[in-house]
Amino acid sequence: MSETLILGVLASGRGSNFQSIIDSIDSGFLNAKISALITDNPEAYAIKRAGKHGIEALVIKPRDFSDRNAYYSHIAGELKKRGVELVVLAGFMRVVGKALIDEYRNKIMNIHPALLPSFPGLHGQKQAADYSVKISGCTVHFVDEGMDTGPIIIQAAAPAYHDDTEETLSERILKQEHKIFPYAIKLYSEGRISVEGRKVAIKGYRENSVMINPPLQT
Ligand code: GAR
Repeated sequence: MSETLILGVLASGRGSNFQSIIDSIDSGFLNAKISALITDNPEAYAIKRAGKHGIEALVIKPRDFSDRNAYYSHIAGELKKRGVELVVLAGFMRVVGKALIDEYRNKIMNIHPALLPSFPGLHGQKQAADYSVKISGCTVHFVDEGMDTGPIIIQAAAPAYHDDTEETLSERILKQEHKIFPYAIKLYSEGRISVEGRKVAIKGYRENSVMINPPLQT
């Protein structure tokens, strides 16, 4: 791993998590460089954010490829070409294909807006609001072949209230997402994360994989 961690970000939409990573780099919290943004959506606002920060943006659409394998092999190739060491899924709304996972095993992180293994898949916040849980939150995990099933790195909790809508709960969870995603990347960049099976250990962090409102420094 180089001293400055080389990141490749995949995003499908608004890109507020992408922005939180950019801001963490700019503030010096995170020693990393984003070498490219890859999106499946030509309308993604994330592309504008990349432009503002001089980050190369590539639009790679699945429909331009014969199958998922060809699509994800191509993405893996673009990431490799740019020396990407860690792939970050910041609101990438697709299940990643094996071709990319094999190339970056335990080197792809995803942020999910629920306390996994509860409420995987799309609209995690709506699922939590509809179920009327009292504690919701978000999870950063490594990506495996399943849908939001990979080893959990860190989680943060957010309260949920009976009158929450998908929107109000999403907003509260998002504040935590913007803290824990850069934090997980920082832990990775410092070589403090090790994975054995589905157990993720964080060096120097006694509480290990579950953190409620994690401190930004340890
Ligand atoms: C975030 O809430 C992220 O956790 C979620 O999409 C949103 C993207 O927002 N991801 C998933 O649901 C993945 N299954 P953003 O584009 O502003 O970062």
